[in-house]
Amino acid sequence: MSQVTLQPFDKALTGEIEVPGDKSISHRAVIFGSIANGTSKITNFLDGEDCMRTIHAFRSMGVSIDKKDSTLTIQGKGVKALIEPTEPLFFGNSGTTTRLMLGLLAGFPFFTSIYGDSSLTNRPMDRVVNPLKEMGASINGRKDGNNLPLAIRGKKLSGIEYRLPIKSAQVKSAVILAGLLAEGETNVTEQTQTRDHTENMLEAFGADIVRNGLTTTITGKKDLVATDVHVPGDISSAAFFLAAGALVSGSVLTLKNTGLNPTRTGIIDVLKAMNASIKIENERFISGELVGDVVIASSNLKGLVIEGDIIPRLIDEIPIIALLATQAEGKTIIRDAAELRVKETDRINAVVAVLSTLGANIEATEDGMIIKGKTALKGGEISSYNDHRIAMMGVIASLLASEEVTIDDISSIAVSYPSFFTDLNNVKEPS
Ligand code: S3P
Repeated sequence: MSQVTLQPFDKALTGEIEVPGDKSISHRAVIFGSIANGTSKITNFLDGEDCMRTIHAFRSMGVSIDKKDSTLTIQGKGVKALIEPTEPLFFGNSGTTTRLMLGLLAGFPFFTSIYGDSSLTNRPMDRVVNPLKEMGASINGRKDGNNLPLAIRGKKLSGIEYRLPIKSAQVKSAVILAGLLAEGETNVTEQTQTRDHTENMLEAFGADIVRNGLTTTITGKKDLVATDVHVPGDISSAAFFLAAGALVSGSVLTLKNTGLNPTRTGIIDVLKAMNASIKIENERFISGELVGDVVIASSNLKGLVIEGDIIPRLIDEIPIIALLATQAEGKTIIRDAAELRVKETDRINAVVAVLSTLGANIEATEDGMIIKGKTALKGGEISSYNDHRIAMMGVIASLLASEEVTIDDISSIAVSYPSFFTDLNNVKEPS
């Protein structure tokens, strides 16, 4: 447990921040580097707990991964060189490791068992286990294979045609990864575009992958070729500072080298629609991903309705968007976001509990929330619910609160943003 008490802040935030590497892209870089042939160098890798779980999994299967700070050198020898791990694999808090690795473990020619922390243990896995079983996977576990711990006996897989019943990049990626190992073609069609880092990176690693609108086709059994990857800054981490810059009066912040893949920039669209002062500079492509500097300044915000196809483009940013909405004039309604109930915690209940304790006018709905602004925030004692994004939202909220805010445990921040407080302190004007 790591409790903090944060004092009221009455200055502005100014300066530049380069947030750590993107979590989704870091996981995928380790995965593809480990199953490719040859040496891949990964730079600006996210040195957070979740991505370390993915590294640990491949090291346990015999892959040599050298890590110096945020640079990885992965000696991939192809799928055939992987060995059966002797111990169960611990995936901690990482849903991405679990769901993506399940797609591969289902087709590796050996036995694995996987488990996680108490949050991960309760998160639904049938969303990936079901399509993988259709491909021939043998996966057993609690609740008919819906919950960790799970035991996977690698099998010969066959390609399938799969229409995603939920809007999830993790499920899409798990089926595509299994498709890499399967006999024949695998077709995955999604209802709405979700983050496409798996597809981008597979193209870079030389996979036989074709994209056509919302359908991705992968032909299995083709060797991947090692490729260097530079990971852009994580827009989901930058989002906390974009919100802080927009909300703390007099602030101007520049978020350097931030990933701007259009499947992830819902937060920027929302900030613009809320009337934020935001601009993007220096846009360019690095390792197949759009990157740029985002400059945000404080302004008066207005509420809005957030629903439909934009939701997957900002799903991880909803806690911080809710904080923005408490400071916006008028009503903000968030709908179609029931997925929040099965994230690291039930993020609808967690956000509503945290922000109501701090004096916001916010109510939960089945699939989202309704926030009425603008309300002054007061101090109080809040919980992070052991969820990194709730903890960071609580810290940013404390910058606006009139009294001190105590957060019960901020250790989860290490999951995605270990240098969060250092970066925050660097942009706080000295009192
Ligand atoms: C992720 C996809 C999203 C997101 C998660 C990371 C990924 O999850 O919330 O933090 O890297 O593919 P879902 O696919 O469950 O929506």
